[in-house]
Amino acid sequence: MRYLTFALGKGRLAKTTLELFEKIGITCEEMKDKDSRKLIFVNEDLKLRFFLSKGPDVPTYVEYGAADIGIVGRDTILEEGRKLYEVMDLGFGKCRMCVCGPESAAELLKHNQLIRVATKYPNIARDYFHNKKHQTVEIIKLNGSIELAPIVGLSEVIVDIVETGSTLKENGLKVLEEVCPLSARMVVNQVSMKMENERITRLIRDLRAVITEK
Ligand code: PRP
Repeated sequence: MRYLTFALGKGRLAKTTLELFEKIGITCEEMKDKDSRKLIFVNEDLKLRFFLSKGPDVPTYVEYGAADIGIVGRDTILEEGRKLYEVMDLGFGKCRMCVCGPESAAELLKHNQLIRVATKYPNIARDYFHNKKHQTVEIIKLNGSIELAPIVGLSEVIVDIVETGSTLKENGLKVLEEVCPLSARMVVNQVSMKMENERITRLIRDLRAVITEK
């Protein structure tokens, strides 16, 4: 039997993903060692391999077949636009992609002003403003701490992830419009879906059973 390889995004989703896999009997003890610099982990009995990568790289590994399966946020799937199958909503990591800014920016959105939009997600932001709202905007790509942009005057609004809303609140910003809901998803390489259909279908079925149990 060949190894089935999983790409997991480092960070918030990884821990919950491993907990979910444990519930269906898929464990990988060596992955829990926080001090380890190892990048890839193997479960010999089940013929599974796991690796952690930067979130936005997960769809890349899956499209090229370097990983059969990826666990990643819907934000990253939409932003990367890779060729892969999105097979399952894992039901955790729930949050929203939103247009945010100071209250005063609401007017600019209403009147289709030419505004600047700072974001880590230029493709999602462009799709939303150009294709859905038909509003011409200038998109400025940032790599983090997006909430800073309207505060220091880099942009009028931001397109960013809102989970609890506390980052916005603490910085005097508000949700002005909702772009779409987000959560963790399982994605599968298109060839793997055919070649490993039985194993992958069983995995999806087992995961569904423990997710709906909650
Ligand atoms: C994300 C997001 C917001 C924050 C939202 O940033 O970009 O800043 O979390 O969460 P909240 O609504 O619960 O406050 P993250 O912490 O991942 O880091 P980043 O700023 O480097 O993107």
